[in-house]
Amino acid sequence: MSRAPIELEVDAALRRRFTAPLLKWYDGSGRNLPWRMTDDPYRIWVSEIMLQQTQVATVLPYYHRFLEAFPTIKALASADLETVLKLWQGLGYYARARHLHRAAQTLLSRYAGKMPKSFDAVYALPGIGRSTAGAILTIAHGKRYPILDGNVRRVLCRFFAIEEDPREKSVEAALWHCSEQLMPRRNPSRYLQAIMDLGATVCTPRQPDCPHCPLQKPCAARKQGLTDRLPVKAVSKKVLHFDYFAGVLRVDDFVLIRRRPLQGLLAGLWEFPGARVDSHEKKGAVMAAYEKFFRETLALNVRGSHLFMEIPHAFTHFKMTLHVFSFRLKKRFQTGGPMMWVERESLAAHPFSSAHQKIVLQLCQSPDRPRLFV
Ligand code: ADE
Repeated sequence: MSRAPIELEVDAALRRRFTAPLLKWYDGSGRNLPWRMTDDPYRIWVSEIMLQQTQVATVLPYYHRFLEAFPTIKALASADLETVLKLWQGLGYYARARHLHRAAQTLLSRYAGKMPKSFDAVYALPGIGRSTAGAILTIAHGKRYPILDGNVRRVLCRFFAIEEDPREKSVEAALWHCSEQLMPRRNPSRYLQAIMDLGATVCTPRQPDCPHCPLQKPCAARKQGLTDRLPVKAVSKKVLHFDYFAGVLRVDDFVLIRRRPLQGLLAGLWEFPGARVDSHEKKGAVMAAYEKFFRETLALNVRGSHLFMEIPHAFTHFKMTLHVFSFRLKKRFQTGGPMMWVERESLAAHPFSSAHQKIVLQLCQSPDRPRLFV
């Protein structure tokens, strides 16, 4: 049986009941964040991109370093991608950095290095979805566009006790509508930051601090005892696990590294060469797969390698164990394409993915001592 479409009507009285206590709470409990001390759309844009999927405390040092290195859209557009990725190293979701860089180049060539004020133009930039475009335009330009990020979605699902899955199209549409209706006409920017802060500091995913919530009285989830259960979680899919291997091939103090293609997972980052172990290969055959890989791709015999590290790592859609082997060669061979030999002490100048960065750290700290993480 199909359910009636969800309707969330917000009249002026409800809007006031929602926004007045929220804004009052924000006056006393809102966070002092660096991107709130500026009206530079570039700085606000960088903050919104970094804050996608990442918490404020993690973002702060990256935000300062990034803006020190690239104080303007022009500076970012003129930098090379490798430098941008190096500053992003450890923040994860590297597509964000590539999109930011590409969008800066678009802004420089089409908009004289300025962030446009039209929603469609901002929304069309790489890496900017509806919510991020809304946040940038509202916060930087004082416009009135709704957002529906994770924090806002959670606050609304609880406030209205929405028991349907917020990822379902019709529910999502109703939430967008509601988010828009709730926005006050006066100072929508302050309102947006207030609801974001409420979601991040009070109406948290686990153990929400309802006693300190300015909306506890009218909150429907609170009244119905549903707070812990809302928003309903997505049915969790089984997370796949894969084995990968990588080789730390060394000649004297040089190490072989390779750059990943500019498309796909971890695009443009550096790594130690290797591959995924084919799923049809037997468990325990990781070393054999590693030897075969170097035989076939570089005509190298790496038999006698030793296990240097084992690194577990979780990506968004799968988990991996990275088996890292180390091998000393007698002579450096000519490299081409995406591979190169670098001196150990120069490794850290290149951007690596988190898992491979652990290898870099180990090589810099104690190059000959294996370290097993699992
Ligand atoms: N999350 C996303 N945007 C934010 C902002 N401007 N302030 C705090 N948290 C956020």
